[in-house]
Amino acid sequence: MATVQKRSKQASREKADLLIVNAAELITLEGGSAKPRVGKQMRELDIIRDGGLAIRDGRIIAVGKSADVRNNVKAENVISANGKTVLPGFVDAHTHLVFAGSREDEFQMRVEGAYYLEILSAGGGILRTVRDTRKASVDKLVEGGLKTLDAMLECGTTTTEAKSGYGLETRDEVKILEVMKRLNQIHTVDIVPTLLGAHAVPPEFKGNTQGYVSQVCEEMIPKVAEKGLAEFCDVFCEKGVFGLEQTRRILLAGKGHGLKPKVHADEMSTCGGAELAADVGAVSADHMLFSSDEGIKAMATKGVVAVLLPAAAFSLMNGKFADARSMIDLGVPVALGSDFNPSCWALNMQLVIGFACHFMRLTPAEAIAAATINAAHAVGRASEVGSLEAGKKADVLILDAPGHKNLGYRFGANLVDKVVKNGRVVLDREEKRGGLMYIERAE
Ligand code: NIG
Ligand code: FE
Repeated sequence: MATVQKRSKQASREKADLLIVNAAELITLEGGSAKPRVGKQMRELDIIRDGGLAIRDGRIIAVGKSADVRNNVKAENVISANGKTVLPGFVDAHTHLVFAGSREDEFQMRVEGAYYLEILSAGGGILRTVRDTRKASVDKLVEGGLKTLDAMLECGTTTTEAKSGYGLETRDEVKILEVMKRLNQIHTVDIVPTLLGAHAVPPEFKGNTQGYVSQVCEEMIPKVAEKGLAEFCDVFCEKGVFGLEQTRRILLAGKGHGLKPKVHADEMSTCGGAELAADVGAVSADHMLFSSDEGIKAMATKGVVAVLLPAAAFSLMNGKFADARSMIDLGVPVALGSDFNPSCWALNMQLVIGFACHFMRLTPAEAIAAATINAAHAVGRASEVGSLEAGKKADVLILDAPGHKNLGYRFGANLVDKVVKNGRVVLDREEKRGGLMYIERAE
């Protein structure tokens, strides 16, 4: 009799492909898909202790207490996350993923006191990478991109935004965006493409910024939009690079072609980038080291996401970081990104969270919300990723740490134990540890 009862109970359980159970903390960040978290909400992670979730066909189908998930859903593959933390895959909201070459020699110059914008105006910095990237073949750029994506995945990033910006002419900007499209097809990390044609003024237009702005608006944006290669349009709005009105013109031209605006705003000086972002209805303003209070308030009113990049601020070595606390107090949704690029070769979002806590005084909970659901909002993917909820993509991390307060606290090491992408275990660092590191020494 008991057996029959058990059978019929089993038969009524829903089927899944994979269960993850017994998480010390299951961080769901539930309920934030419609709007980013602001103010005190950024501290609410909706944690389930001894939590579990079920996955079918690459999607999450159930989330709850382990016992409830097990009672309601059955699967042959079950992962026990005993003593570990389970959370959504990180969303990196700002990267310059595709480029050729590197700039370690300039890094040394910057360590010795050279200033970033001086290197740029002397034809180095971004322009140095433009020379290398224009020369590089598509295959070479794909190879470099894959390496970076592998390293990102290894550290828990499952979706990343990626900007062009090292072509600075229509043909090469298209080449870079096509490389991203290819990478998106062949690598499991999802890429959200942004056109950053206005990243610097190319040598062909030296002294004629206006002429280049016209080319971006009249040739580059229409071409990229026609080919469907980008979702966002971004501008490096900065003294000596692109001014406010030039930035506005480019962002409005992009908007006219269906590209949503983003701005590199107030990174090195207060130039009204945050105000402009609010004014043009940008999805995000990024960097914001020197943004004014008025700009921050305007962003709060318009719901523009502040994408903060503490690794980039760290790499500038001037001790200046965005005033994240004021932004959170004033109700600006805060997100995080790595700003991976050849002058800030950082791609580990756990390190970014560590820097966010140490230099901008975000609590671990706020930094986690910023690196998951709010970052998903910043890249237009909040209905798909950034939280662990039924219906969303099963992009899940298992971290070798007993709770969320360890993020930011244990910085500099990779806490990732497993990465589940689209419902499949794509990375298992536990399995990789083959035991060969343990040796027996003679007494
Ligand atoms: O986000 N500031 C402008 N763009 C990048 C840096 C790009 C580069 O130096 O190659 C940034 O910091
Ligand atoms: Fe950037």
